[in-house]
Amino acid sequence: MTNNLITPDFRFRRLRRTAALRELVRETHLRMSDFILPIFIEEGINEPVPIKTMPDVFRYPESQLAEVINRAWSKGIRAVLLFGVSTHKDEVGSDTWHDHGLLARMIQTAKAAQPEMLVISDNCFCEYTTHGHCGVVFKNDVDNDATLLNLQKQVVLAAQAGVDMIAPSGMMDGMITAIRQALDDAGFAHIPVMSYSTKFASAFYGPFRDAVDSSFKGTRNTYQMDFSNPREALAESMQDEAEGADILMVKPGTAYLDILAHIRANSTRPLAVYHVSGEYAMIKAGAAAGVIDEKAIVLETMTAFKRAGADLIITYYAERLADWI
Ligand code: PBG
Repeated sequence: MTNNLITPDFRFRRLRRTAALRELVRETHLRMSDFILPIFIEEGINEPVPIKTMPDVFRYPESQLAEVINRAWSKGIRAVLLFGVSTHKDEVGSDTWHDHGLLARMIQTAKAAQPEMLVISDNCFCEYTTHGHCGVVFKNDVDNDATLLNLQKQVVLAAQAGVDMIAPSGMMDGMITAIRQALDDAGFAHIPVMSYSTKFASAFYGPFRDAVDSSFKGTRNTYQMDFSNPREALAESMQDEAEGADILMVKPGTAYLDILAHIRANSTRPLAVYHVSGEYAMIKAGAAAGVIDEKAIVLETMTAFKRAGADLIITYYAERLADWI
């Protein structure tokens, strides 16, 4: 057995010999408390509508939100991210700041169903505007500062409805300052903000457009980031940290592990990653084609996020992960 010619300086394989040894020295672990489940609620439907590009993901009617929350809770999920698919769209997305609007109702229903569930609202306008942009459109572009004023109304409404955390995804400059000021002035200094701080303009969001039934045809290149720019990616998150963001985020995930690691090395704030619709759809499609092992690929991907520095993972796989870890 012993080869007298070659003796390795160190035998890494000694700690790989059994499952117990490998588990003992494992550096990165997945727990259910790492995961946040996105939920889509659509107005005007009575049955769940399957999202065809995202197998096993549905748009649910409002009447089933409580049930969805309770099912997630029973599987061990402790945080959800709510997306509304509105039938009350207008030029500015005003439904998001009406106290009887979809955003307010979703938050109230979710909190009533399970008061201990951490309810996070995706705070944007694209699912509530007729043009599908993430804010007020002026001269063919989203007007940053006008959008901030509406965002302030939206987040105060969400807080009044009982939301546990605000998650602005519109990539407007100054959005954290605007939100913090509005929340603090309205008596909600205790409500944290998880910023979509480094969000790239990405083709990986393709299936999401299907998920929210968006007729949006343009690009978001004037507000979401160019994926070619790692220095700007860091600056975006550091700016949101300076403005008071409690949690930072990188989105999408799989193709952006370098960005996650870079932000992790430069910030002490908790860091989230969003495993987006296209990443989900690609794994589903690969698994359906029989070319990859779904469970193994998902566990490897989620572990890679944590290894790169993510503390939290937003993923459509959150419920399945409950069966797997
Ligand atoms: C809209 C929003 C998007 C996603 C979350 N919020 C789409 C976009 O920016 O075009 C993407 C989520 C996903 O793809 O899973 N502000």
